[in-house]
Amino acid sequence: MPEPLNREEEKPPSRRMKRYWKVAVLANIKDDDHPKPEGVPPDAFSDFDHIETIDSLRAALETDGHSTVFIQADSDLPYALREEKPDICFNIAEGLGGDAREAQVPALLEMLGIPYTGSRVLANGISLDKTLTKRIWRDRRLPVSPFQEFIVGDEPLRAELNFPLFVKPAREGTGMGVDMNAIVNNEKELRERATYIVNTYQQPALVETFLPGREFTVGILGRADAKLYSRHPEWYEKDGFHRFPVLELDTTRSVSPWVYTNEAKSKEVGADGHLGYFCPAEIEPELEKKLKYLALRAHQLLYTLDVSRTDIRLDDEGNPRLIEINTLPGLTPDYSDLCLQAKAEGIRYEDLVLDILYLGASRWDMLEPREVNDLRKK
Ligand SMILES: Nc1ncnc2c1ncn2[C@@H]1O[C@H](COP(=O)(O)OP(=O)(O)O)[C@@H](O)[C@H]1O
Ligand SMILES: [Mg+2]
Repeated sequence: MPEPLNREEEKPPSRRMKRYWKVAVLANIKDDDHPKPEGVPPDAFSDFDHIETIDSLRAALETDGHSTVFIQADSDLPYALREEKPDICFNIAEGLGGDAREAQVPALLEMLGIPYTGSRVLANGISLDKTLTKRIWRDRRLPVSPFQEFIVGDEPLRAELNFPLFVKPAREGTGMGVDMNAIVNNEKELRERATYIVNTYQQPALVETFLPGREFTVGILGRADAKLYSRHPEWYEKDGFHRFPVLELDTTRSVSPWVYTNEAKSKEVGADGHLGYFCPAEIEPELEKKLKYLALRAHQLLYTLDVSRTDIRLDDEGNPRLIEINTLPGLTPDYSDLCLQAKAEGIRYEDLVLDILYLGASRWDMLEPREVNDLRKK
């Protein structure tokens, strides 16, 4: 009689489950030692990560037995991937140039058939473009402030846009192109600012009604079947999603009162001029429910996967309006909003990072689903 096969060998090779993986962290790293190339805006690359964040991510992934490697997400990435042969990539790469840079790495990984975490190409591409994102939300009746995209800068202003207005680059992050001059009070200031954005950032300027109210950011983690793959099924509600506690920005303490500018975002937490924050925010249960509902709908309508953070501000009547969604939210421990939200409810950084890994891996058939019976016992 032949020897009985062990469980691993019973499966075809593609489904064979490995317990420990080689995880490649893919990111773009800030390089403060080298001058920026000519012709880029002064705040270019602000969304890139510090190497310390990569070290924290790797340490977190290694706590569950995986080995890790860091690969810079530049034009050598395809060769490095071929060399390193990771089982899966933990993607936080912002990408380099073009009109949808956050989608570049997911697109490459899709082409090479390499598993990776988080949102796929479309969600990362569209969410970088705040105008397109708002069009999708508006189409499905989610509240956004009135807006208009300026491609040249001298387009006639539409009647529903009343001053003061807010002008920002349509496709940046980390407060790039946002300083106190983003608030414009008349035609002249609007034209100057819109032209400045178009010329400096080489992309459309998004002009929207200025939202004078409180500012919140809401994190979402999960998927309909998250409980089957998470190490912490108890985090997830019946619909498979976890809503992090709402974080309110205390914009009054910023170097730039009321606005979360690039300058404010570049400061250390607790440093002079950095924003304070409250988490969980002190808000009425009704507003909290609304903010969490909006963040989840915003996430779902863009096909965002597993993790996101959505910025929301109140208008002059106190109604929430969606500003933007971050499909690659920052993951610097004790600094990034999502990490502060997790910490506020006692979720450890390591556990947050590992759940993002396992939710991603499960989409690529790298994990056995938990037994449903097992879940009922929890
Ligand atoms: N319509 C608006 N009204 C008032 N403030 C705004 C508006 N849009 C953006 N802001 C301010 O600018 C900051 C950065 O804008 P946001 O769209 O979130 O870009 P980023 O991708 O740089 O985070 C926000 O956190 C908020 O403080
Ligand atoms: Mg933002």
